Amino acid sequence: MSNDSSARIVEALRAWISTAPPGAKLPSTRALVAEHGAGPVTVQKALRTLAAQGMVESRPGVGTFVRAARVARPHDYGWQTAALGSPRNRISGLHTALRTPPNDMIALHSGYPDRELLPERLVRAAFTRAARGDAAVSRPPAAGLPELQAWFAAELGSHAPVGVAPPAPGDAIVLPGSQSGLSSAFRSLVGAGRPLLIESPTYWGAIRAAAQAGVALVPVPSGVHGPDPDELDRAFERTGARALYAQPNFANPTGARWSSELADRVLETVRRHGAFLVEDDWAHDFGIDADPTPLAARDDGGHVVYLRSLTKSVSPAVRIAGIVARGPARERILSDLQSESMYVSGMLQAVALDVVTQPAWRTHLRGLRHQLAARRDLLADALREHAPAAYLEALPRGGLNLWVRLPDTTDLARVVRECEENGVLVAPGGEWFPAEPTGPYLRLNYSGPDPGAFPEGARVLGRALE
Ligand SMILES: Cc1ncc(COP(=O)(O)O)c(C=O)c1O
Repeated sequence: MSNDSSARIVEALRAWISTAPPGAKLPSTRALVAEHGAGPVTVQKALRTLAAQGMVESRPGVGTFVRAARVARPHDYGWQTAALGSPRNRISGLHTALRTPPNDMIALHSGYPDRELLPERLVRAAFTRAARGDAAVSRPPAAGLPELQAWFAAELGSHAPVGVAPPAPGDAIVLPGSQSGLSSAFRSLVGAGRPLLIESPTYWGAIRAAAQAGVALVPVPSGVHGPDPDELDRAFERTGARALYAQPNFANPTGARWSSELADRVLETVRRHGAFLVEDDWAHDFGIDADPTPLAARDDGGHVVYLRSLTKSVSPAVRIAGIVARGPARERILSDLQSESMYVSGMLQAVALDVVTQPAWRTHLRGLRHQLAARRDLLADALREHAPAAYLEALPRGGLNLWVRLPDTTDLARVVRECEENGVLVAPGGEWFPAEPTGPYLRLNYSGPDPGAFPEGARVLGRALE
């Protein structure tokens, strides 16, 4: 029996069904055998596939029939309005960065790197190896595969200065992507109704996770150089907050990389207020002209809870991240994660571990650095030439995005709409502000498909800004 010929018969029958009325009888097995030159077992297999997809139904001894479509009637879900009441927060809908555009659009909105920037060969080989091993059929420990925990801890520990104790493997917990780590950290370390300081602008997913956890967001002004430390101190003082969420390296969206002095001041402020810093190191593998320097590596007192994602650097299909925390905070986070999802697929953990421990991973990261540099510069040059009104406050030294300021008088919604009508998707900056935006911004991602289209994308933006 050939899978290929069964799939071919399925395709042919689907086409036939699409023009047949509901209830129509399919040709007999014998007729299908003759028509497709396949054996009866292959034909039966194709019919079973169509039945499993709900397209046909078999009546034993009578034949196979096109399934009658159910009559669509409008549903009334009004009772749910009464049962659910008003939502605690009104953030809903798909964020711009997650939109999947038609192939012919120039996608500058997306948050995810194009396939050509992924270690595809390593990922495929890792899946093949993992499929043969225990990971495919066993349950991993709740905190993650010990070797992967050790890898996350060692990666962070490699940045620890002399005199600071590096994290132990047991301090790391493996996550199904760092988004769930953010939610868990906000629930475990802050809790509903309590204040969380957050840079403004900042990662939209953190804003959503915090809103979902019911924490009260306290925006701290930030930008291409990081947050204002005096303002941060005042915000801790004023609100009594015990946690700050921040991205000290290649922040999304501003690209900010904190100076060593700023990192010291923020850490000192956090310690003085007996608070946590939730450090989101989402772009650790995307350094271009600079290497990331995790702030968590300077802290062995349990103040910094550190998130490191592999989703965008290994593969969006291998959604793995790690969180490193010490003391009771780690226990709270682990217990919260267990209530939410129990454990992370061992298969995905095994694949991630395999990829990042291959010698070729380092080679891949070195190549990636050059590709990102070329893409970033190409988009920045294209903006300078074709959209001079779009102002880049700083060229990011890592990460995947340009954070572009537009003239004060810009009607941002119109610009975004006009770009889209002309085949270019851009992300309006307002989605990255936890409060009102301080001006019209766009976030443009240079890691999406086809950098050859950047000049055209910039031309379209330039025309929309005229
Ligand atoms: C700053 C930041 N943190 C966290 C995430 C989420 O990472 P993951 O895909 O691992 O959940 C993203 C994804 O865009 C991000 O930009």
